Amino acid sequence: MLRNSVGRLGPFIVIYRSEEFLVATVEVLGTPTWAAPVPIYKPAAVQHFFKMSSSSPSIAITTLDPSLPAHKALIPAITAIHIACIEMDGTISTFAPPLDRERIERWWAGKIEDVRDGSRIIFLAFDAAEEELVGFVVLHRPMLETGPFKASVEKLMVSPAHRRLGIGRKLMERLETDAKALGQTLIQLDTDEGSAAESLYTKLGYNILGVIPDHGISPLDGSLRGSTFFWKRL
Ligand SMILES: CC(C)(COP(=O)(O)OP(=O)(O)OC[C@H]1O[C@@H](n2cnc3c(N)ncnc32)[C@H](O)[C@@H]1OP(=O)(O)O)[C@@H](O)C(=O)NCCC(=O)NCCS
Repeated sequence: MLRNSVGRLGPFIVIYRSEEFLVATVEVLGTPTWAAPVPIYKPAAVQHFFKMSSSSPSIAITTLDPSLPAHKALIPAITAIHIACIEMDGTISTFAPPLDRERIERWWAGKIEDVRDGSRIIFLAFDAAEEELVGFVVLHRPMLETGPFKASVEKLMVSPAHRRLGIGRKLMERLETDAKALGQTLIQLDTDEGSAAESLYTKLGYNILGVIPDHGISPLDGSLRGSTFFWKRL
């Protein structure tokens, strides 16, 4: 455990090491008030964590190209952010604890195959300076003959160490631009009731269709949580 004094009497930044993450918590008088996990296999991410509060990073958004080995090699980093969102935020997102990292990586490999046939587009957000993956979102294009103009949003996720820097918004804005260019002008999505994402989608002009109660199992405590369904015409 590392302990760095930030002020004279605190707060303290305390860093715990687990098998996969360094978890930094800010403690005021010994009480954890904030936490962020950083994947251990990315030392640059640790440095970035300490820099992030002072200035907004320059973010580059790109689409995943499955023919690029460098992009296929991102599966562990994508999986690490996915796991962090489930474990840290309690996001209900396909997998429930105990999480099997290899199974989630195989699942993402399947999504990358969908990119080849055009049924999914994966948007990646990189910290341009660190060349570090900091978030992603998926556009699902189901190829419906009865609704070629319809698409849905899946798995908008930003690394917990890079929140409130506008990355989620930038990912969604790029997704909307590309979706519109492809003729997909009606977007549907759902998210956990009361989540940060609910605020983000409302701010981006998504209309609330309604809430389905008891729609998924919380990874934090096993309770049933509602999902809010949204739509937007681009
Ligand atoms: C939802 C999520 C993607 C937002 O990413 P982000 O990069 O932090 O969001 P942004 O910085 O672009 O925020 C844009 C706006 O969204 C809203 N917002 C984002 N986080 C919020 C929070 N924790 N509480 C309230 N509003 C929030 C705010 O209106 C914000 O604008 P502001 O910062 O000017 O006030 C991120 O919190 C996340 O990955 N959550 C866990 C995964 C998840 O729930 N995904 C969604 C469905 S699978």
